[in-house]
Amino acid sequence: MQKVEQLYEGKAKKVYATDDPALVIVSYKDDATAFNGLKKGTIAGKGVVNNRMTNMMMRLLEEKGVPTHFVEELSDRETLVKKVKIVPLEVIIRNVSAGSFSKRYGVKEGIVFDAPTIEFSYKNDELGDPLLNTYHALALKLATKEEIALIEKYAFTVNEVLKEYFLALGVKLIDFKLEFGKTADGTIVLADEISPDTCRFWDAKTDEKLDKDRFRRDMGGVEDAYREIFKRVTSRPAN
Ligand code: TMP
Ligand code: ASP
Repeated sequence: MQKVEQLYEGKAKKVYATDDPALVIVSYKDDATAFNGLKKGTIAGKGVVNNRMTNMMMRLLEEKGVPTHFVEELSDRETLVKKVKIVPLEVIIRNVSAGSFSKRYGVKEGIVFDAPTIEFSYKNDELGDPLLNTYHALALKLATKEEIALIEKYAFTVNEVLKEYFLALGVKLIDFKLEFGKTADGTIVLADEISPDTCRFWDAKTDEKLDKDRFRRDMGGVEDAYREIFKRVTSRPAN
């Protein structure tokens, strides 16, 4: 499959059209941003890690009954995926308090929840991805009630599958962000990426951060963290 023209360049990825109108190629960059693009940098090798790791997770999730946009890995940085219209909702699942949850509610990081939480943000960079609930999403016609119910169901399944998968690698899945898309026939599929950019991973023994928080918080060891999580993931292929 050949790249035809660039359709879009985001903060971490580029998207190209192909000869097939139903398929696009995603190309992962090493560029990193945080705080809605305010902080910019590069994480050497990130594109390769995020591409390959995302694809492993997508294959695993397909097997567990979550439909995804994944079609075929083309190279270290490029993947063929189904063309979708992204549902403008960022779906965040949390198992342990961290990040904006801790900040918003004034609690320390690391509190293990009895049950996972779900929240939605309106995917809109100009507005800074504001938090919203299902009623707001419906009022804004971002998705239908049925689509939101399906997205919630898929998101909790993703959590169960990934929590177990990462624990076996000695990693706690603290929280993560998902995006869903709609194919031409209206099917809702998991899209975007599942990577250290979009998940918080803590070492199960030491609570060491193995994700993008090292970049967001200027902690150092960013590349090493991406390498370490990738090493663990590739040491035990998902399938
Ligand atoms: P938060 O605690 O900052 O709301 O982040 C929750 C999770 O979502 C965390 O795993 C990082 C991920 N995330 C993204 O993937 N993109 C974003 O723009 C933000 C703010 C968070
Ligand atoms: N990628 C997002 C941004 O640039 C935020 C983040 O991951 O922290 O703003």
